[in-house]
Amino acid sequence: MQQPSDRTPADAVVRVEGLELRHGGQLVQRGLTFDIRRGEVLTIVGVSGSGKSTLLRHLIGLQVPAAGRVLYGDESLYDADDERQAQLRRRHGVMFQAGALWSAMTVGENLMLPMRLYTSMTREERERQARFKLALVGLDGAFDLEPARLSGGMRKRAAIARALALDPELLYLDEPGSGLDPVNAARLDELVLNLRHDLGTTVVMVTHEVASVFAVADRMLYLDDRQRTMTALDAPRTLLASGPPEVREFLTRGHAVAA
Ligand SMILES: Nc1ncnc2c1ncn2[C@@H]1O[C@H](COP(=O)(O)OP(=O)(O)OP(=O)(O)O)[C@@H](O)[C@H]1O
Ligand SMILES: [Mg+2]
Repeated sequence: MQQPSDRTPADAVVRVEGLELRHGGQLVQRGLTFDIRRGEVLTIVGVSGSGKSTLLRHLIGLQVPAAGRVLYGDESLYDADDERQAQLRRRHGVMFQAGALWSAMTVGENLMLPMRLYTSMTREERERQARFKLALVGLDGAFDLEPARLSGGMRKRAAIARALALDPELLYLDEPGSGLDPVNAARLDELVLNLRHDLGTTVVMVTHEVASVFAVADRMLYLDDRQRTMTALDAPRTLLASGPPEVREFLTRGHAVAA
């Protein structure tokens, strides 16, 4: 496993050093040290309650770590002033686990909202961008629809499109496939790979679906719920062959489906 250093390697978008996650006094994870490499799909996996969503909140600037640092380039996110933190945050798109769109707005308005808040784009530019992002996720006709009229799979796609609204270099997705049938979950995996291919976006995806891991991940970070630390970071097939026992067990249970 990599050791902390003072420099962020050129191919790393984010470097996490000695991160410790707590809720109140409760330890969730500690000793997390890893890079997010430019252009990769990194999946964060672990059983329910292991701390995947909590880690994501620490990576995107929503929860201050109990210890350790999150570096964007050479800048430490939580050491930056508020304005700089906000700028750094704007460079990434996020789809939260609950992933909901605002129900009182159309899909198009949902996508245009971050552009209205954070850019000086005109209404026409915002609409053009929103339609473009919807087309990217295969929702060409959804601009004027209300979210309630979308199917579950379409809603997930729309939430991803919204996360792409500001052209993020990094996309964080928390369980994008949850609640979907296997066919739509597989289509969502394809979408993630297409986005990476077409836009060059680096993707960090939380999932507990083994099929998804094998479909999309260059590397997989395993958060162990008992040891409360990461016990593996490597390509899924490498970990399936020679990872620690808990990781192989995790991967083996879903591998028949993924193969
Ligand atoms: N807001 C909170 N306040 C207190 N404890 C929390 C809070 N959110 C999460 N926790 C606790 O932190 C631990 C990690 O939760 P987290 O939601 O990060 O897990 P997860 O791996 O994302 O789980 P899941 O797969 O179910 O989404 C759990 O023990 C959870 O009960
Ligand atoms: Mg979660």
